[in-house]
Amino acid sequence: MSAASKRILTGLQPSGDLHIGNYFGTIKPTIELFEENSGFLMVADYHALTSSKDAEALRSNIIENAKDYLAAGLNLENASLFQQSSVPEHTELAWIFDCLVTVPFLMQSHAYKDKIAKGLEANAGLFTYPMLMAADILLYDTDLVPVGEDQRQHVEYAREAASKFNNTYGQTFKEPKELISKTVGVVPGTDGQKMSKSYKNTIPLFSSREEIQKAVMSIVTDSSGERPENVYAIHRLYREETDLAALYESNKGKYQALKESLAEDIDAFVAPMREKRANISDNDVKRVLKDGGEKARAVASATMQKIREKIGVII
Ligand code: ADP
Ligand code: TRP
Repeated sequence: MSAASKRILTGLQPSGDLHIGNYFGTIKPTIELFEENSGFLMVADYHALTSSKDAEALRSNIIENAKDYLAAGLNLENASLFQQSSVPEHTELAWIFDCLVTVPFLMQSHAYKDKIAKGLEANAGLFTYPMLMAADILLYDTDLVPVGEDQRQHVEYAREAASKFNNTYGQTFKEPKELISKTVGVVPGTDGQKMSKSYKNTIPLFSSREEIQKAVMSIVTDSSGERPENVYAIHRLYREETDLAALYESNKGKYQALKESLAEDIDAFVAPMREKRANISDNDVKRVLKDGGEKARAVASATMQKIREKIGVII
């Protein structure tokens, strides 16, 4: 690690089967960041409670998503992988932030406003979600928070929470910055829209050769253009554009052949990760999470001790 190494913290909501949009948009850039920097990768299981009410599904998603990151090559020398729920200081600090911010301030949250605009009922956890996320980040003296564009506002909320606390009780927290990976942008799904599990247009990340084939064959193609754009847009994640130019030139109009080639490239790319994943047991994951939780708790409890003194509850 270089001297300029930064403290990183990021979180992922345990949400079941990941797709290649999650991989190129989040997993890969996060794993690369942990090669040069150190910090924490948190499974945000308490955040997931704002939408999940299925205990079995939550339990399984926590294990499976942690396994996904390990199989994708997370460097455990630099990253402590842990469950949010195993460090109670997160919910404790969130409460303190809740008492510093106003209701109109929280009402500006895009995630909250979107839910209301759709006529859905928002629970109180969804409303205070940004303060739990602020606690996640600020407990660890974090410099950088790698997130997708959709999470930018949440990191702004964390800076606001830090500044409100500092103004009230004296300089305590440093203000973290978001790190938004620009290189990939939005990965399109099989229908050309943003790939998303809610649109059912995904190519699953850890799927078998057959499942990859099936998803790739379902990519919507339009014969009006020079090349099948929806196929190409995914293919460029797996191969150099110069390489692709030749392939697409020599297969003009042969959509089936181009799809075959894409399926082959996806399969070749994921095969080593798939194999690694098959060799990681649930107990391996539990051990990693426990170990990460102990490291996280040591930092978080030292921070909380200072906070408790500053706010006047240590008598
Ligand atoms: P989904 O849209 O499938 O529900 P999530 O919202 O759970 O995905 O996203 C988890 C992470 O993956 C987020 O950080 C998000 O920015 C990233 N991500 C999701 N879909 C894409 C995509 N199509 N392209 C790039 N990144 C994505
Ligand atoms: N809100 C993030 C998401 O839905 C997950 C998350 C929780 C997070 N706590 C975090 C991300 C702290 C970065 C830092 O994707």
